Amino acid sequence: MPLTIVVGAQWGDEGKGKIVDLLAADMRVVARYAGGPNAGHTVVVDDRTLVLHMIPSGVLHPDVTCVIGAGTVVDLEALLTEIAAVEALGIAVRQRLVVSAAAHIILPYHRVLEREGDLARLGTTGRGIGQAYRDKAARTGIRAGLLTEPALLGAAVRENVARLHRQAPTLPDDAPELDVARILAHLEDARRSVAPLVGDATGIVLSALERGDRVLAEGAQGTLLDIDHGTYPYVTSSNASIGGVCTGLGVPPKAIGAVLGVVKAYTTRVGEGPFPTELTGEMGNLLRDSGNEYGAVTGRPRRCGWYDAVAARYGVRINGLDALALTKLDVLDGLEKIDICTAYKCGSRTLNDFPSDLAQLAACTPVYESMPGWKAPTKGCRRYEDLPEAARKYIARLEEISGVRAGIVSTGSERDDTILRKELLRPYGLG
Ligand code: IMP
Repeated sequence: MPLTIVVGAQWGDEGKGKIVDLLAADMRVVARYAGGPNAGHTVVVDDRTLVLHMIPSGVLHPDVTCVIGAGTVVDLEALLTEIAAVEALGIAVRQRLVVSAAAHIILPYHRVLEREGDLARLGTTGRGIGQAYRDKAARTGIRAGLLTEPALLGAAVRENVARLHRQAPTLPDDAPELDVARILAHLEDARRSVAPLVGDATGIVLSALERGDRVLAEGAQGTLLDIDHGTYPYVTSSNASIGGVCTGLGVPPKAIGAVLGVVKAYTTRVGEGPFPTELTGEMGNLLRDSGNEYGAVTGRPRRCGWYDAVAARYGVRINGLDALALTKLDVLDGLEKIDICTAYKCGSRTLNDFPSDLAQLAACTPVYESMPGWKAPTKGCRRYEDLPEAARKYIARLEEISGVRAGIVSTGSERDDTILRKELLRPYGLG
């Protein structure tokens, strides 16, 4: 089972970074397949906290090759800042980091156009992600491969900026982000520094799989933010769900061994768009504060709500999940009662399946069942049998209603604050 996939099964921020870091101990390659620095994957080991935006979360394991795949968009400066942050922890990264020559690069004008333009209404992360993917789809994007060809890179930037001067009347002609000389001068240092990292990412991943080396595909964002299968238009610009693995890395579906879906023990979402189980009152604030639910990229407060099993079941079906990694169970410690959304009410109808129509989703209200909370803390718990009985019952109910077992339960941000249910993971070659 050489290719393992870790995918977010909600609206992102499920805690994928921690799970990828944990599983990476047994991997030779960890590869990001989609998204860009809109992701913020937090890895905590001992007293070190690393928030990764572009570099795969397997980086703390020195034998892991880290691949940034063709399906991603790369901000060169953000990448260099991140490399420096990893190196500052005494971890060598450059010699085992590969950026796909086919990955698109984010340029300063992408960021400003996003802030000034029509994407802002979605509550994006403001990192130019959507604009870079827009150029990719328009066949005007600039790919990382050009970083090794400065003359061609310069020509491509010039051509794009000339087009923007014609097409972007919202920006003044003298906007610094549209100044070619300035862009190229600024780009030059980053270009020299990133060019040696550019390579054939797909070839590396395929060769590893052919050798039987274990490869982990790391999802960014979540299934409900997938541009095709999420809550469009309130989504990101790439395929965050499982389909993005094949297109974003260039691997055949037959290579896929195990698919692990990360879900929080409750639900959060950042940005605009329908969110049936959202709690706007005191309970929402409590979840936000206990779970430190503030965006790792933008610092924005996340919208919080109860576990939505309708959405989770959708994540299970879309991705063909083999098991769940249930995170942040400890955030629910001390609650009197915990609600689970089992279905939606839409007018007089009860829906068990996640609606594909956004207007219908927006009209849905949750149908809840309540479970008793637990008094004894789960925080830091490392054995399933040590969990309070009510917490075990809660997990069992989530498994039953979501349709798949929880092979991993996370009880804190530290790598070791984790319960590995080996009997559930072993059939998939994990744990
Ligand atoms: P964009 O990906 O910056 O274009 O933002 C599009 C939508 O996806 C916005 O609602 C963002 O808040 C959301 N989003 C993007 N990346 C993440 C993430 O890593 N976690 C959670 N939400 C995200």
